[in-house]
Amino acid sequence: MKKGHIKLSIILFAIIVFILIVLLSIFIISGSFLHNAYMDPWDKSYQNRYDDPRLKLSAHGLLAANGHNMQPWKIKLDEVNSSVFYLYADSSKITPEVDPYARQMMISQGSFLEYVKIAGEKLGTPVTITLFPEGVYDENNLYTSMDTYPVAKVTLGKATPQDTTLYDGIFLPDTNRGIYAKTFLPANAVSALTDTQEYPDISAVIYQTADQVQDIGLIAMEAAEIEGNTSRVMKETEDIFRSNEYQKNKYRYGFSVEGQGTKGIMKHLLQAVVTLFPSMNSGKAQTDNFINSTRTSIKNTPAYLLLTTKDNNRQSQVEAGMLYSSYILKAHSLGLAMQPLSQALEEYMEMNTVYEKIHLQYGTGNTIQMLLRVGYPEQSVPLSMRQDVESLLIK
Ligand SMILES: Cc1cc2nc3c(=O)[nH]c(=O)nc-3n(C[C@H](O)[C@H](O)[C@H](O)COP(=O)(O)O)c2cc1C
Repeated sequence: MKKGHIKLSIILFAIIVFILIVLLSIFIISGSFLHNAYMDPWDKSYQNRYDDPRLKLSAHGLLAANGHNMQPWKIKLDEVNSSVFYLYADSSKITPEVDPYARQMMISQGSFLEYVKIAGEKLGTPVTITLFPEGVYDENNLYTSMDTYPVAKVTLGKATPQDTTLYDGIFLPDTNRGIYAKTFLPANAVSALTDTQEYPDISAVIYQTADQVQDIGLIAMEAAEIEGNTSRVMKETEDIFRSNEYQKNKYRYGFSVEGQGTKGIMKHLLQAVVTLFPSMNSGKAQTDNFINSTRTSIKNTPAYLLLTTKDNNRQSQVEAGMLYSSYILKAHSLGLAMQPLSQALEEYMEMNTVYEKIHLQYGTGNTIQMLLRVGYPEQSVPLSMRQDVESLLIK
């Protein structure tokens, strides 16, 4: 071999070794070699780890959408009656900056309960749900109340398992923050996503004329800019960001790069980068990311769904969550995706003017519990972390 060729081969070899070292470092820093236990609950056979039907149902409940992916649920199995369990709001999972009155936290209780309900039908253990069976919260001692008073008593019955078309949707990601096609929702989708027969005190309206979509989008964008620039609120979100597999397995709740639809090798690359440079996900960078991604979402939204309740008590909030979860499952069966845009509905001081604006224009004197984008997604998104059902147990 000529001298020149040998030199070239050495350079090529060095480049390959360098690339391999970089790739290996990325995978080690990201934790890609670890078993991602935080994904186990998404497996349809996960429930088979448990004999107790109450745990089987709760294993479905915890796959529901929930604010900030805090999974703020606790369950207590009745020691006397093996057909009963209680759902409590987990006061250690509050996000007081973004949700000062724990309203979103109550919606998250409802989303859990709806999944339990649908799973109960499928498994032949249909449930009766009684909200606040031991009384409502003392609002002046909210967090103690959450620990004391169950949100719901769930009583399991026995029946022939029903083949509900909604069941499979439980195992799909509920929040798609990506691009939706510019396609109107057909009449059958509008009627499915505005059916409030079960909850006559809740109203659900789809807005999809160009003017409405533009107007709601502008309000949502204004809200996102306020949120992005309110540092204590952003800090709360930053604190629950899990940057790599080690952290995701440790906490199993909160946000991660999957939330923005990142998958595969890109996921590990991004995780390695944010692990090495946490500043990429804090301060101005975090604000810019949040505002830019919200802008893209809003630009690519053909329709909005608004859920409003006549009053804003705890029961209505939970019911709004149940209705929301039922719409998610219907949306899955129709090939549609949803994403809540909650900022304009949040009750902190800096958001007051936008909160009032959206209520004045779209609240019809009621409380808007959820503002959601709806549409046909261009891409599927990855699943988010979940805790083990046993970690929800109050022993
Ligand atoms: C009450 C409530 C408010 C939410 N607000 C937002 C929001 O403002 N923006 C967003 O992208 N997702 C929002 N979500 C979705 C959650 O972030 C999401 O459910 C959670 O991260 C778990 O992901 P998954 O729904 O894909 O399983 C909200 C969910 C609930 C129940």
